[in-house]
Amino acid sequence: MKVTPWEVEGEVDYSKLVKDFGVSLINDRIKKRLDGTHPLLRRGIYFSHRDFDKWLDNHDKKMKVSVITGRGPSERMHLGHLVPFLVAKSLQDSFNCNVYIPISDDEKFYVKENLTFDDALEYSKDNILDLIALGFKPKRTFIFEDFVYTKMYKYAGMIAKRITYSTAKAAFGLKNESNIGWSFYPAMQAAHILFPQFNEGRHLSVVPIGIDQDPFIRLTRDIADHKDFNFEKPAALHAKFIPSLHGNPKMSSSKEGSIFLSDSKREVEDKIKKYAFSGGGSTIKEHKEKGGNPDIDVSYQYLRMFFEPNDNKLKKIYDDYKSGKLLTSEIKEILIVKLNKFLEEHQDKREEAKDKLREFMLKN
Ligand code: TRP
Repeated sequence: MKVTPWEVEGEVDYSKLVKDFGVSLINDRIKKRLDGTHPLLRRGIYFSHRDFDKWLDNHDKKMKVSVITGRGPSERMHLGHLVPFLVAKSLQDSFNCNVYIPISDDEKFYVKENLTFDDALEYSKDNILDLIALGFKPKRTFIFEDFVYTKMYKYAGMIAKRITYSTAKAAFGLKNESNIGWSFYPAMQAAHILFPQFNEGRHLSVVPIGIDQDPFIRLTRDIADHKDFNFEKPAALHAKFIPSLHGNPKMSSSKEGSIFLSDSKREVEDKIKKYAFSGGGSTIKEHKEKGGNPDIDVSYQYLRMFFEPNDNKLKKIYDDYKSGKLLTSEIKEILIVKLNKFLEEHQDKREEAKDKLREFMLKN
């Protein structure tokens, strides 16, 4: 298995990652405090953390807390890309805190050989509309693009001075032939992560991210309390990868493998019917006799992660599919209806977001 911020390969062994990275599992004590939050948090897709218990304690003690998570705009957004932002919004709703959203157009420009400068800027603008459409609170949410909100350069510079080349090289697997934009970028992402504190003073921020992004957290935690900054070490919440429709461990950017937020009803229906990996029996007869396996069924997984927040209804789908009473075509239909309803609303809100940019974007 290989898991870095820019590459995920092979079968992902999460318990090994928890050990190797030295992070903590989200235990039942923490879970109890997450009642009413997004299914991604409540149902264990977010599975490990750093100091998130402390973040919750600070909130309970009425201390300031915040959330920061970002987006690398390399393409139009698909469902998997929404994961950290759905959680950021849920934390904002439950804990009434500020949310910071950096858009790392610089990162994707450096790392993606074929992404032009103009495309990187275009995708930023495009992706920002999808993020605003999620319904963040205008006065409590701050979005910025690295190539546009150049104030960040100052903070990245202060941080760059405290990261050695060998640290960055080891943490991010930089190669001799990597361009040097790539080796500077970790300072920029560390600046994003500390930005809530640069902006509002010392306090605890939590970063919801995919577990592959943890090297950035480690790096940032290592420098946060340097005397130059005297900041809190940021907390983190780590998600597992979201399976592609085919059931591959990470939703890829292939057209067939993922649901794009811009997909039409027809495209969604076609993709789910054709590609959604099924845990059902190979014939209806066999399915009715032996039942299906919801744990590997992608339609069930998407319902669990995103589209069926009601625990009782979800359990009924699980039990009926497992017993064979609910057929593969039927569980797919449940998903298609819910997914299309979500996308229809999302696409409307995305249109409305075009008039709201000013309320969210930070200005130099
Ligand atoms: N590097 C992240 C990605 O590729 C995006 C990102 C930019 C980010 N700045 C961040 C994530 C700050 C968390 C915190 O998806």
